[in-house]
Amino acid sequence: MKFVAFNGSPAGKNSATNRIITAFLAGAASAGAQTANYQLTEYQIGQCQGCFACWFKTPGRCVQADDMPQLMQAYLEADVVCLASPVYSWNMTALLKNFVDRLVPLKSPLIQEQSGNFDMADSRPRPQQYVAISNCGFPGENNFSIIKAAFSCCNPCLEIYRNCGKLLKSANPAVQPAVAEYLRWVEKAGYELAADGQVTAATQQKMAEPLMSVADYVKFLGM
Ligand SMILES: Cc1cc2nc3c(=O)[nH]c(=O)nc-3n(C[C@H](O)[C@H](O)[C@H](O)COP(=O)(O)O)c2cc1C
Repeated sequence: MKFVAFNGSPAGKNSATNRIITAFLAGAASAGAQTANYQLTEYQIGQCQGCFACWFKTPGRCVQADDMPQLMQAYLEADVVCLASPVYSWNMTALLKNFVDRLVPLKSPLIQEQSGNFDMADSRPRPQQYVAISNCGFPGENNFSIIKAAFSCCNPCLEIYRNCGKLLKSANPAVQPAVAEYLRWVEKAGYELAADGQVTAATQQKMAEPLMSVADYVKFLGM
């Protein structure tokens, strides 16, 4: 089983998002999964030009010469695809959105309807499961409303949304135990998904617990 993560944080390896991904993949690896973690910021990914040459002229292949073929290959080889991004302006980053747009060669010019939702048909069977991962700077679940709606289109088998995300990179010793415990639950989630094909409600509930009170977080930020 192969878990592949695509991190859309411009901060790449140093991002809070990457701390979540790393813990999750470590858990999956400890259950025997192969893992790979792609920092999208390290790759050259042109914007989709909307020319649809990848459907009508060179089916399955984009006209742009950049790093997308390598990323697409990794995406296609994955059993579990982790799409990860911090919240930027209530949404996923442009980096992750651009990557997702560039997966359009995997669609085909055939409109299909499922339960009232219209989409393009996949050009090949899509056996991958999806995991959505995000963190945001503010307290409050409402910051994830838009990103949740966007991710719902790929019907994720697991969603990890971490508010008060600034804590994840903090070197403050008063904060670290709570962060370390949170990351242990994330790791457990990775283990469970790789070992059992699903993550227990108890683990999901633990991952959703607050890291600190809103008042303490505001104090922590010094705002
Ligand atoms: C341009 C920009 C827009 C942001 N918009 C939001 C937002 O709408 N809601 C929020 O809670 N945090 C927002 N943030 C804060 C980030 O989500 C937060 O700093 C996060 O921890 C960054 O994660 P990363 O280290 O993985 O990149 C924004 C940050 C930037 C730079």
